[in-house]
Amino acid sequence: MEKRKVIIDCDPGIDDSLAILLAINSPELEVLGLTITSGNVPAQLGAKNALKALQMCQRLDIPVYIGEELPLERELVTAQDTHGEDGVGENFYEDVDAKILYGGVDFIIDTLKNNKDVSIIALGPLTNIAKALMKDKKAFENLDEFVSMGGAFRIHGNCSPVAEFNYWVDPHGADYVYKNLPKKIHMVGLDVTRKIVLTPNIIEFINRLDKDMAKYITEITRFYIDFHWEQEGIIGCVINDPLAVAYFIDRSFFYRFLGEHPEN
Ligand code: RIB
Ligand code: CA
Repeated sequence: MEKRKVIIDCDPGIDDSLAILLAINSPELEVLGLTITSGNVPAQLGAKNALKALQMCQRLDIPVYIGEELPLERELVTAQDTHGEDGVGENFYEDVDAKILYGGVDFIIDTLKNNKDVSIIALGPLTNIAKALMKDKKAFENLDEFVSMGGAFRIHGNCSPVAEFNYWVDPHGADYVYKNLPKKIHMVGLDVTRKIVLTPNIIEFINRLDKDMAKYITEITRFYIDFHWEQEGIIGCVINDPLAVAYFIDRSFFYRFLGEHPEN
């Protein structure tokens, strides 16, 4: 099976970290690199968390690039109340001994210019994507597919009645991408992602499959599950970002299990 080449732009973050685990372990994908933007945590911290997720998959060969560290216009507001001060559930892991690169926006542009079959899965604010578009819109004509976890279609937001965090952190970036990307935007919004809750039962099932991975997932989600219990009285946690990766891999899953229809 031909692997699909993908750049994951993200703001790790607990659910971003889970999404990275899913993408790296999916035989359908070739992850060319991770580009980091500020969102859940400042990009510097997000990059360290990305390395941790790659280390868990023994894939530190995949490059991690810091991109834009501030939204286009707004002040940065992070979500460390939800993801923990360290961005991964206050485990305060030791730094992974691997290189963090800079120039995430140029990595996106150069990769698109040099390949005709690369897709982007954006799991954070769209600042890097907007900046890359501003800098070299022509490069995006080579883009295969663009999936963005963000927004909320006809349901309430998670930052205000109408605002979802990724687009709320950098509304100017989101606006620019939605107005200028020369490709269809596959938006995986809260209307879809809130239908999927990672429960202790599922974590126990993962534990039976891979104890090391389950230990890491348990560690990074504990804080997030506590947050969901306090805020919403649910036992588990809504995991937004992995769903965007799952959609990219097999969207029939959405039509079969989530009641979504292709025309949505
Ligand atoms: O609103 C949910 C989104 O915001 C997720 O991508 C989460 O990681 C945060 O970035
Ligand atoms: Ca995210």
